[in-house]
Amino acid sequence: VALTEDRLVRGLQPIRNFVLAQAIFHFMELGLLDAVAAANRIPIAVLARSRGLREDRLRGLLRYLANEELVGLDADDGVSLTERGRELVAVRPWYTLLVGGYLPAFAQLSEVMKNGAGYASRDGGHVGEGSCGISQHDALPMTRRLIDRLDQPPGTIVDLGCGDGSYLLDLCRQLPGVHGLGVDPEPESVAAAREKATQQGLGDRVSLYVGSAASVPDLGGLRGPLCFITAFVLQEVLEQSGRDAVLDLLQKSFTAHPDAKWIVIEVDHRPDDDAVMGHGLGLAYYNPYYLIHKVTEQRLEPVRFWEELYREAGLSVLAMEYPDSRYDSLGLKVGFLLSRA
Ligand SMILES: C[S@@+](CC[C@H](N)C(=O)[O-])C[C@H]1O[C@@H](n2cnc3c(N)ncnc32)[C@H](O)[C@@H]1O
Repeated sequence: VALTEDRLVRGLQPIRNFVLAQAIFHFMELGLLDAVAAANRIPIAVLARSRGLREDRLRGLLRYLANEELVGLDADDGVSLTERGRELVAVRPWYTLLVGGYLPAFAQLSEVMKNGAGYASRDGGHVGEGSCGISQHDALPMTRRLIDRLDQPPGTIVDLGCGDGSYLLDLCRQLPGVHGLGVDPEPESVAAAREKATQQGLGDRVSLYVGSAASVPDLGGLRGPLCFITAFVLQEVLEQSGRDAVLDLLQKSFTAHPDAKWIVIEVDHRPDDDAVMGHGLGLAYYNPYYLIHKVTEQRLEPVRFWEELYREAGLSVLAMEYPDSRYDSLGLKVGFLLSRA
């Protein structure tokens, strides 16, 4: 096939988007998006000084983003966000997760495909932060709706794999009197969670520990009834330690706390479902999400896998929840409310 300019432009679109995704992520990470959004319009020299940046390089980044119609540069040397630029504010956690969290994994794709290769790595702090940010739109409201179905509100929420804690802290803020216990193996995430708890005045209601779901601290003294939460975390334990370990975690926890409830949020594994992959959100989010899960230490499974595992653990599914379809109509994120059968 002869190389024409049309074909060259088409062939380079993924590279354009590859650079654009990273430029946007760093624009967010450096606090520039928030600063420009808050000011409406800000002189570039002031922006550079306030963020401690080299003005010449900042000008280069802003010119690049202006060419992509995300910012506007005016004749008085000011910068503002365009309509498309303003839309980025709400989608920031997706950049934190997929670019900040998984850039190392994408860079290692060739390496990890080879026979005998290990897992691709990721940036755990950004994964936890991005995931919790996205959860604000789906997993958190789904969890809230599942909690609202309980006869009795929980006394303590035990969030296993709590990431940066924002999910647990939001629930504790929304449910006055509820105590929170969060556990995550990433020290950076737990440190961020502790800082947020203090900032939000929840330090006395929420305890946070570095650890894995299997090494939960003694829950004996906690105020009941307990409600465990694993949001996008059983998929991690499943690949790290196997199906029996997930089964063991559920069985042991319910033996120790027979009246507890457990909320699981997982993503249905349907990468070969044309209805999903032909959809805009399917291609923009779930397709890269499924790829990531093939090469990192996590394992997605279809809903029936989880349902069988709960049955084997002697648990009943009391209710299921899905994201608000105005935001995500694919129904791939699933919330289960579990109790002893
Ligand atoms: C995708 S994030 C989910 C964070 C949060 N639960 C949410 O819904 O947004 C997965 C989290 O699980 C944590 N994790 C990984 N392995 C774990 C394990 N064995 N036990 C508990 N948490 C684990 C990771 O550090 C990460 O914070």
